[in-house]
Amino acid sequence: MIGPPANKSNTSIGVRIAGTGIGVPARTVSNDELAKTVDTTDEWIAQRTGIRTRHLVQDGETARTLATAALAQALDHAGIPAGELDMVISGTLTPEMCTPSDAVRIVADVGAKPAGAVDISAACSGFVYGLNMGSALIQTGMYRNVGVIGAETLSKLTNWDDRTTCILFGDGAGAAVLAATGNADQGCLYQRMSSDGAMWSSLYCPRDQTNLPMDSTGFTGKFNTLQMNGREVFKFAVVTLQRAIDDALNACDVKADDLAMVIPHQSNIRMIELARQRLSLPEDRIYVNIDRYGNTSAASVAICLHELVEQKRLHEGDLVLFVAIGGGMTWATSLWRL
Ligand code: UT7
Repeated sequence: MIGPPANKSNTSIGVRIAGTGIGVPARTVSNDELAKTVDTTDEWIAQRTGIRTRHLVQDGETARTLATAALAQALDHAGIPAGELDMVISGTLTPEMCTPSDAVRIVADVGAKPAGAVDISAACSGFVYGLNMGSALIQTGMYRNVGVIGAETLSKLTNWDDRTTCILFGDGAGAAVLAATGNADQGCLYQRMSSDGAMWSSLYCPRDQTNLPMDSTGFTGKFNTLQMNGREVFKFAVVTLQRAIDDALNACDVKADDLAMVIPHQSNIRMIELARQRLSLPEDRIYVNIDRYGNTSAASVAICLHELVEQKRLHEGDLVLFVAIGGGMTWATSLWRL
């Protein structure tokens, strides 16, 4: 499906990514350590997923505390006082509580009161959804500075006896501060947020019996942990990811080779590699850090963005494509001129 046309022509307001940050737990857990508790090997995990190690929270660390650290660093990098933030959008499926949202307390913790605050639940697509919403708010002219976060502690929803899921996920947070600029050429050129609820039971986290699908085959028996049909999700994700990228490029009349960088959700190295080969991009133009973080859900694209900024691999004027797919199913693309 072709998305809406490039939306930059509708506004004279540009958006820049003014600063980025991350919040990552100090504790790391290698594949070999996991192999001591479930029937798996470093070789299987690395070959099938690309993951070597992941960060996991310890006592006292939550998605909110990681997110607060990430946003504070992003504000510092941006040189924008917290008090000038108009809004904070936090993508997470692991907030501390159902109310208040993590975003409300993050705003208070970084000193951004009374900025607006909202958590969005779009699973692994949460940060790209947030980027799209944040940039659109700024392009209306009514907001100047928006903090966008992806923060997750999937380890708290993991069945550590289930080798098909426990090897995949990691904890972490990443943030970006978006700011209005007079340079109308800068910002989000195209965005799309999509979903398909027909596949919800391929990846879900049931609270109790009432949440189970009619055919509960595959349910691991542990409520409040992630249930995933990995093969189904993989097949859907490969096709959808590639279609979403094509739609973004076609809508903006951009060729893959024009992209300075593709920043994909880090769910499986094989999925990223298939996309890269199809786009005929060299390895250094599609970012990969799944080996060090695993799948950090909403945080993954945000962490990648920060690492690229730190490595000075993004420059003003670059075309950059953000793309993510996750539970729901949800998926999103965001094409930016930096
Ligand atoms: O972020 C968005 C949400 N998640 C995803 O995008 C995940 C998408 N799915 C995937 O990445 C892959 O499907 C997985 C990495 C989860 C699994 O890889 P796979 O190549 O699809 O494996 P499979 O499920 O087809 O299983 C192949 C074999 C099975 O054994 P049999 O039936 O062939 O004897 C599994 O029991 O591998 C076995 N297996 C394992 N073996 C060692 C499954 N998990 C493990 C494990 N270690 N951890």
